[in-house]
Amino acid sequence: MDTAWWHGSVIYHIYVRSFQDSNGDGIGDLRGLLSRLDYLKELGVDALWLSPIFASPNRDFGYDVSDYYAIQPELGTIDDVHALIQEANKREIRIIFDLVLNHTSDEHPWFIESRSSKDSEKADYYIWSDDIPNNWMGAFGGRAWTFDQSRGQYYLHSFLKEQPDLNWRNNAVAEALFKMVRYWLELGIDGFRLDVINLIIKDETLRSNPKIVGSRPRPYDLQRHIFDRNRLESHAKIRQLRSVIDEYDGRMLVGEIMAELPGEPELAASYLGKENDELHLSFDFSLAYARFTASSWKRVAKRWYEATGSKRDPSWVLSNHDLPRFSSKVRGNRHKLKLAALFLLTQRGAVFIYYGEELGLPNSRVCPKEMHDPLGKKYWPFHRGRDLSRGPMVWSIGPGNGFSEAKSWLPVTKDANFYSVENQNLEPDSLLNFYRTAIALRKGDTVLTMGHCTFIEAENPHLLIYCRTLGAERRLIVLNMSSGYQTCSLADLVPGEEIAALRLFSTHPEGRAEERGLGPLELAPWQGSVYDLVAQRRKSRSS
Ligand code: NOJ
Repeated sequence: MDTAWWHGSVIYHIYVRSFQDSNGDGIGDLRGLLSRLDYLKELGVDALWLSPIFASPNRDFGYDVSDYYAIQPELGTIDDVHALIQEANKREIRIIFDLVLNHTSDEHPWFIESRSSKDSEKADYYIWSDDIPNNWMGAFGGRAWTFDQSRGQYYLHSFLKEQPDLNWRNNAVAEALFKMVRYWLELGIDGFRLDVINLIIKDETLRSNPKIVGSRPRPYDLQRHIFDRNRLESHAKIRQLRSVIDEYDGRMLVGEIMAELPGEPELAASYLGKENDELHLSFDFSLAYARFTASSWKRVAKRWYEATGSKRDPSWVLSNHDLPRFSSKVRGNRHKLKLAALFLLTQRGAVFIYYGEELGLPNSRVCPKEMHDPLGKKYWPFHRGRDLSRGPMVWSIGPGNGFSEAKSWLPVTKDANFYSVENQNLEPDSLLNFYRTAIALRKGDTVLTMGHCTFIEAENPHLLIYCRTLGAERRLIVLNMSSGYQTCSLADLVPGEEIAALRLFSTHPEGRAEERGLGPLELAPWQGSVYDLVAQRRKSRSS
C-alpha cells in the first residue's frame, strides 16, 4: 500500500490575512497563525494550505506576486516561516504554500525588465504582441490584452492587468520558477497548491476562443476557453514540475483546475497524469455547486471517482476563498453541516476544510464601500465579491472575537459570538466538536482513509448510501439527506451478505449507542451514520 501522507489526509485551508492577527493591525499574520497551531492539532488536521504569503502589491491579495523569495511584510518574515515549519512539524502538521505560477505582479522585476524593451534579457518572459491578436478576455473584466507604452506592445493577462501572464513556452521562465520551487522545498515546505495551473500554456498561435451564445454578467464567461486553457503542452510542463518535486521526499502538489461551471471532474483528473506523473491531487468544484440532495451528491461523487479511478485520489471541497461559504448555502442548518462533514470525512482521497467551516461560519456581509476584492468591485451586485467568504476567524466571545484588537480588515460575521470556538467548546454537541470526532474517526480507520468506495442504489431517493472496503473490512455509510424520518433495511442494502451491524458513529447524539443486528435502520432528519459491517458467524445461519 502506498502510504504517502496525503492519501486520506485532511488539509486545512487558511486565508492568512483573516486567521489571527498578532500585532494589532487588523490583518492576520504568520505569528498569529503560529499561536493557533494547538487548536489545529486538536482539530486533527494533517496539513495547512496557506493562501499566498509572498511579497505582493495586493491587487489580488497575494495572487499577484512581486517577489517569490520574500514574505509579504504585513504577514510576517522569513523567520516566522522557519518558526511555523518547525512548530507545525513538532505537531505532525505539514505546511503547503499557495504558488502562483501562471502570472506575476506587474511590479515583479521580471515584468519591469520585460516591459522596458524588446531587447531586454527578460523580453520573452511574458506574452507580447504588436496588436490585439484575439478575443481573449480577462477573468476580472476587460480584454486580456493591455497596451504598454514603454515597450509599445500589448501584453497578455488572464486576470487583472496588474497580473501579466508568464510565458511558459520560454524554458528560461520554467527554469527560473523551478529554481524558486527548489528553494522552498529545501526550506522544508511540504508541497504547493498551484493556482490556475491549467492556464500556464496558451495556444501557440493565439487563436480566438469560440463564443457562447447567452447572457452572463461577465464577458469572460461568454467564451469556450479552449485556446487560453488546457493546452496539451501544459501536461509536459507539469510533469517537469513533478520531477522537481520528486527530487525531495514526501512533497505534494495539488492543483487548482479552472473549469467550466458547475465543474469538470474528468478535466481535473486529467491533470493527475495517465501515469500518475503530474499532480498528486487536483480540485474539482462540482460538489460546491451541486444541490444538497442525495441524488446530486451521489452523481457528483460517482463521476469524480470514475474520473480519478482506483489508483488516483479525488479531493473533496465544500468552499474556499473564491466561493461562498458552504454554511450560507444550507442556511446554517447544523444537521446539514454535520451531514456534509460526515460525507466528506468518509470519502477516499483528500479532504479540504476551509478555515471556519468547522464552525459553520457563514458569509460575512460586506457592503460595496468596504469591499477589497477586485472581482466584487468590478461586478457588484451581479457578483457580490469574494470578500464575503474571507472574513475573520472567530475565536472567542466578545469584541473582535479574538481575531484582532484593532478593527479587522474585513467585517466579522454577524452572530460571531455564537459561532466562536469558545462558545462551541462549551457545547458537547457543537459542530466544532463533531468535526473533531469525525476527523478522529477517519484518522483512526484505514478503511475510511484508503478503502474502495462503492455506492449502493437505494429505493429511497433521500438516502445516500455507500460502502468503504479494505480487504475484508467494510464500513457502511448511510446519509439521510431529507427533512423527514427515513428507514431502510440493512439486509436489502447489502443483499447476499450476512452481516451484523455495529453502529460506530452518527451525526445525531442519540444515535451513538452501539447497535447490533440486521434490523431496519431508522434515520432522523439529516442524520448520517457509519456502521461497521461484520460477517455474521456461520453458526447463527444454521441455528
Ligand atoms: C485563482 C485564485 O484562487 C483566485 O483567488 C485568484 O484571484 C486567481 N486564481 C488569480 O490568481
